[in-house]
Amino acid sequence: MYSIGTDRVDGCMVTSLEPPDPADHSGHPVMQPSTGAVPFLAAARGQHASHTPVWFMRQAGRSLPEYRAVRGEGSILEAITRPTVAAEITLQPVRRYGVDAAVLFSDIVVPPHAVGFGIDVAPGTGPVTERAFRSSSDLDRLRPLEPGDISYVTDTVDLLVHELPPEVPLLAFAGAPFTVGSYLVEGRPSRTYQHTKALMHTDEVLWHELMERLSASAITFIDQQLQHGAGAFQLFDSWAGSLSRRDYDRFVLPHSRHVFSELASRHPGVPGIHFGIGCDHLLESMMAAGPTVIGLDWRTRIADARRRLGADTVVQGNLDPALVLAGTDVALEGTAAVLADNAGHPGHIFNLGHGVQPDTDPDVLAAVVELVHERTSRDTIRIGDPT
Ligand code: CP3
Repeated sequence: MYSIGTDRVDGCMVTSLEPPDPADHSGHPVMQPSTGAVPFLAAARGQHASHTPVWFMRQAGRSLPEYRAVRGEGSILEAITRPTVAAEITLQPVRRYGVDAAVLFSDIVVPPHAVGFGIDVAPGTGPVTERAFRSSSDLDRLRPLEPGDISYVTDTVDLLVHELPPEVPLLAFAGAPFTVGSYLVEGRPSRTYQHTKALMHTDEVLWHELMERLSASAITFIDQQLQHGAGAFQLFDSWAGSLSRRDYDRFVLPHSRHVFSELASRHPGVPGIHFGIGCDHLLESMMAAGPTVIGLDWRTRIADARRRLGADTVVQGNLDPALVLAGTDVALEGTAAVLADNAGHPGHIFNLGHGVQPDTDPDVLAAVVELVHERTSRDTIRIGDPT
């Protein structure tokens, strides 16, 4: 149902996606399925689903030969501006793996790039800036994000909601203010976050101004994707684990909390996931930011997270991506251990503890999806059903 034809993009054969005709609803879900029929949404709300839903962070990308064929050369930020290409890349892992959610092919630095901050993603390195954010004059390069700045993103979302099967929601996402801010302040990926930490401790007023601007742009970025039909969202605070709990609570939590509360008021009932790496020491605070789902990396046991955060906590995760690199047997053993850790709780979205590594064998991931679906397949319990 996704492919309408084939086309050539950058010299590569790709599936072409026609922009949706507003008058044509064929293939478009006229009636949205109930939450119970969408495993991802049911689990995100802690309700029983027909099976535990699975998706992978970075499920689209360099591990897939079909991605490498379509992607072409040049910056990823340029590829993202082409809606048919971005939609095709988003759909590739859904077709290949039968995952239960599609995640928009975009990047966390799209908002600062779109307002002209001067940032790019260098292949093999990550986000790099022309000039790092170091003083109040750098705020001039961070004007508010307007919907018109990211019309290519919403055009991609429009294509995707038309093409995706109704039981596979599209996930919106944005980088959390801290993680995006760390790239702007460091100017490149960092291990120490020394400039970022120096800024928060030496000029707290400027730090909070930066965080407020990045919160506003994360809200606009996610809000636009949700307005165009994405069904849930994830806030990536990948590098928050570099902070002490005290610093997280003082310099970051108020801003991430603002993102979740504003989106909850604009989109009541839409699930929001909060994810970071190496954040075991921050779990209570990250939960206090107000997500529906807490994303765990492999360092935290699911059972421990529920003991600390509450028995009803909905969790996402948390297979170590390195185990997927170790071959099918190790990956499946790890998958079974994650499921055992979850102990049949309905509020579980299966994922890796971080993104898919570029040298991952897609067949191993396919086996992981199959095992999760098979092991957790159950008849949905419906209220009112005769017993
Ligand atoms: O998860 C998905 O499948 C959706 C797409 C997605 C991308 N980036 C596409 C991408 C998502 C959710 C992101 C988020 C993102 N981007 C994060 C948070 C998640 C995480 O990994 O912690 C971060 C830190 C970034 C910044 C970024 N963008 C990095 C570090 C890199 C890798 C640079 C490299 O080449 O090693 C990117 C580039 C990027 N973003 C790629 C993809 C598929 C790969 C590069 C490409 O094709 O050029």
